[in-house]
Amino acid sequence: MYNKEDKILIIGAGGQIGIELTEALNKLYDSSNVIAADLKPIAALPNNPFEKLDILDKDALFNCVKKHGIKQVYLLAALLSATGEQNPLFAWKLNMEGLFNILELAKEKHLKKVFWPSSIAVFGPTTPRNNTPQFTVMEPSTVYGISKQAGERWCNWYFNKYGVDVRSIRYPGLIGWKSAPGGGTTDYAVHIFYEALKKAKYTCFLGENATLPMMHMEDAIRATIELMHAPFENIKIRSSYNLSGLSFNPKEIANEIKKHIPSFEISYETDFRQAIADSWPASINDKEAHEHWAWKAHYNLETLVQNMLTNLNKKNSK
Ligand code: NAD
Ligand code: SER
Repeated sequence: MYNKEDKILIIGAGGQIGIELTEALNKLYDSSNVIAADLKPIAALPNNPFEKLDILDKDALFNCVKKHGIKQVYLLAALLSATGEQNPLFAWKLNMEGLFNILELAKEKHLKKVFWPSSIAVFGPTTPRNNTPQFTVMEPSTVYGISKQAGERWCNWYFNKYGVDVRSIRYPGLIGWKSAPGGGTTDYAVHIFYEALKKAKYTCFLGENATLPMMHMEDAIRATIELMHAPFENIKIRSSYNLSGLSFNPKEIANEIKKHIPSFEISYETDFRQAIADSWPASINDKEAHEHWAWKAHYNLETLVQNMLTNLNKKNSK
């Protein structure tokens, strides 16, 4: 499944996941074959060809795929849960039309393989909250979650109907030190590190008991690459795979940070994002990902906090 010569297009490459994913793909493919596309140039990716591309512009997308002879697409452009609630109709348009534009190109055999991320936001308040299984009640209450759930069904449909090799993960909240988050409910778990190092205090927009599924970005990138390089026949779920890293709430991560920065204080001023967090699972069961493509997370809360503080300290001292 690994062809080093494949040309890869990452759409939304300038975002929280895109920067780290592009860097990781540069280690597997020649960086000149990994094309970074976004609405504006990406200073953090100086070694990759860049295409200024709006995923909603179907003709420009087709021209870009033809121009570079693209074989694989990672579609990361989307509005996330918090910004989606503030701009619901545009969130629906971007999240759905962007996906259709790619699935149609794959249906017409212009692409070999597609990665499209889903989210824990596909679950809702009626979903079993702990150890949430792969197949369960799904009544998402956010526009973002509705778009991800619909997207999952469409991916499954394009696979069944046209054999489109589309692969997907329901990412939990992602935490990394290289890039900033872009408008989600789990963003607090990145912001807290910056504020802890800068001011030794942080005001959290979620309450202290808001336990959510989370994952270190390194684990998420590794999962994405492992899924995309797994043999075709191993991928038995074509909607999207549950993926579990760790689970914690703001109080627990603050206590872990305090072990390194004893003066650190957290306070709470909840906003509309609390209701979103309340509607999502606290923990995820990902046994299908283990069984089908041997997924295993590496980071726990202790190692995640250690890694984030060490790397952000190094980054700040440069
Ligand atoms: P992000 O907001 O950080 O990045 C998205 C990127 O897409 C941005 O660089 C933006 O400029 C670009 N973009 C926006 N509109 C575009 C358009 N019309 N055409 C081209 N590019 C456009 O998002 P992210 O956190 O990197 O998330 C990427 C994907 O992963 C999304 O589908 C998101 O739903 C999913 N996801 C992310 C998380 C997370 O914790 N970060 C969790 C679950 C799922
Ligand atoms: N991290 C994402 C969000 O909070 C989950 O999809 O929107």
